[in-house]
Amino acid sequence: MKAKSIKCLDLFSGCGGMSLGLSWARHGQLAIESVAAIDIWAAACETYERNLGIAPRVERVSAELVSEVLDQVGSVDLIVGGPPCQGFSTSGKRALSDKRNHLVKSFLDAVELAQPKAFVMENVTGFTTFQNGHLFDEVVQRAMALGYQVHPGVLLASRFGVPQRRRRFILVGTRSGTFRFPGRIDTDVSSDGLLEVDQKTDAGFSLVSFYDATSDLPRLAAGEQVDRYSKAPQNDFQRWIRTGSSKPSDHVSPNHNPKFVELLSHIPQGKSAFDPDVFREIPKRLRPRSGFANSYARIRGSQPAPTITRNFTTPSSANCIHPRQHRALSLREGARCQSFPDTFEFMGSMSDKRLQIGNAVPPLLARAIGNALLELCF
Ligand SMILES: C[S@@+](CC[C@H](N)C(=O)[O-])C[C@H]1O[C@@H](n2cnc3c(N)ncnc32)[C@H](O)[C@@H]1O
Repeated sequence: MKAKSIKCLDLFSGCGGMSLGLSWARHGQLAIESVAAIDIWAAACETYERNLGIAPRVERVSAELVSEVLDQVGSVDLIVGGPPCQGFSTSGKRALSDKRNHLVKSFLDAVELAQPKAFVMENVTGFTTFQNGHLFDEVVQRAMALGYQVHPGVLLASRFGVPQRRRRFILVGTRSGTFRFPGRIDTDVSSDGLLEVDQKTDAGFSLVSFYDATSDLPRLAAGEQVDRYSKAPQNDFQRWIRTGSSKPSDHVSPNHNPKFVELLSHIPQGKSAFDPDVFREIPKRLRPRSGFANSYARIRGSQPAPTITRNFTTPSSANCIHPRQHRALSLREGARCQSFPDTFEFMGSMSDKRLQIGNAVPPLLARAIGNALLELCF
């Protein structure tokens, strides 16, 4: 029997992490196919087209553009998107009419126009507390007024086979049927009433560690690039992520000066240069002068990686030092920690690639959300 496609519109689509993972979801004959995407960033759209086979509209998301896209592709069953949104304080309650939240409003306008059976909005975990919770409340109220049941949750990516402890806020809206977040039926209801997956422990889940995800990639010195595998795949994750790939692209380390490499050599796994016991042992001439609490920190190889942020090649801004090598992660290591297959090609400059990787929804997390949607909502 032929698979039935659920048609999806991906807004703020970036390089396509969300669309890719959704395309892997299955329930019986049901599958999800992104039929249109919109993003303002040309390099990310090139990556999307190269790997997902459709060219996103390289434009700002707006009601007019969404109408035009719907005229072209017909109706859609699902809208997904992560409208960028920054926390800022305000005393007012009209958060959705604040200009600074216009992208969240644009996402809801698109839902109103297209009236899909379901939508998925993803965002940073702080989303529920922005503007003292007014933004979240107004989004929920607007979605309910449009006829959707809403299901908010925070998901920890490492529970879905992603070698990374990334947490994302997910809001699912459904017109009919019910929705249950994938994985264990989860635990705590936090103080703001949000169903929250327990963030403290992964106990009971089969975790993929940083080493599990990357130990077949060649050693690199700072600034070096190597375009071959050094070993056969060592485990199921590596077999899966290398499917169809004869060599890794973008296994390139950022360049660090010799003094910086020497500093990194003093930082043990799971520790930061600013931990007092580490700082004391670093020669004065090498000590960093300032940084964030999680900067100048070395990843623990036996655990899933910490969140791969848009700064994952800069140790002074992120927890991103390789567990055994004195350098920040390579682009390909970052992509692996996000669960992008080695066949996935990132387009643009090194900085474009780094931002696309760090911004993305991990495809394996998106697949889990897609599976739950297919099972319960369509
Ligand atoms: C968090 S990223 C999306 C990641 C994507 N969902 C993925 O999984 O790869 C947010 C995206 O919003 C895009 N963006 C920001 N402002 C926009 C606007 N006004 N219209 C369209 N896209 C915009 C950025 O270029 C960026 O790619």
